[in-house]
Amino acid sequence: MSAQPRRAQDFAVPQIEFAGVAKKYDRLILDGLNFSVTKGDFVSILGPSGCGKSTVLKLISGLTPANSGTILVDGMTPKNARETMSFIFQDPTLLPWRTVRANAGLGLELERVPREKRDEKVDALLELVGLSHVARAYPRQLSGGMKMRLSIARALATDPRLLLMDEPFAALDEMTRDRMNEELLRLRDEQKWTVVFVTHSVAEAVFLSTRIIVLSANPGRIHADIPVMLPAARAADLRTTPEFEQCVTAISRTLWEARTA
Ligand SMILES: Nc1ncnc2c1ncn2[C@@H]1O[C@H](COP(=O)(O)OP(=O)(O)O)[C@@H](O)[C@H]1O
Ligand SMILES: [Mg+2]
Repeated sequence: MSAQPRRAQDFAVPQIEFAGVAKKYDRLILDGLNFSVTKGDFVSILGPSGCGKSTVLKLISGLTPANSGTILVDGMTPKNARETMSFIFQDPTLLPWRTVRANAGLGLELERVPREKRDEKVDALLELVGLSHVARAYPRQLSGGMKMRLSIARALATDPRLLLMDEPFAALDEMTRDRMNEELLRLRDEQKWTVVFVTHSVAEAVFLSTRIIVLSANPGRIHADIPVMLPAARAADLRTTPEFEQCVTAISRTLWEARTA
């Protein structure tokens, strides 16, 4: 029996590649990082405080350079790949004097997209994240969850293929966080992003991710790189299944090992 020749699209395309990456500030922060992220992956990074999780995102985005090793994003240097990605932080950094709509359109304004086109796009995005009804409101009038949705809308305006999220929901109450997690997965299924997501919550990482990277500290190294063997389509009630619980327990144990490694 002769095998069909495989086509290029049969191979998973790496969107991010780290090879032997090290980062120093006043001391060695990250060392010997080797991993790749495939298009469509949702990778969460867990690890003790200060182990270098945020630094990994900064390296991917080119906000800070590596001291050794190679980082490729879409086959380019992080700086050259900048346009393909958006960064979302825990603190939404909204401009208080601008309306919701004007905040969402900020990135497009900076890119000098003409007013009419900008408004059209921003209105579609506000619809997508469920904020159309508050388009004329100001950030102070929004709840924490709404502010985060606005910051996501703003990040999406520039059509990223890669989302870098640094503990985006850490300041939200648990119910809002759960709801935001479900919305994020819905948007991601629609928009086909690749996501690298930093969190402190094991349950959040398990619910969202296709893969979880656990870092150990001093210096930060990859302690474990674990595929999440849960169904691709994830509904809220997944959280109540024994499979989910087992996964959370296993990852919690790995995180504990990483803390004492
Ligand atoms: N710009 C910087 N200059 C000096 N040290 C830094 C800088 N940014 C981060 N660090 C240090 O690098 C380490 C890792 O930081 P970070 O990546 O923020 O960790 P995490 O996100 O895992 O909590 C910490 O010890 C932090 O103090
Ligand atoms: Mg951090």
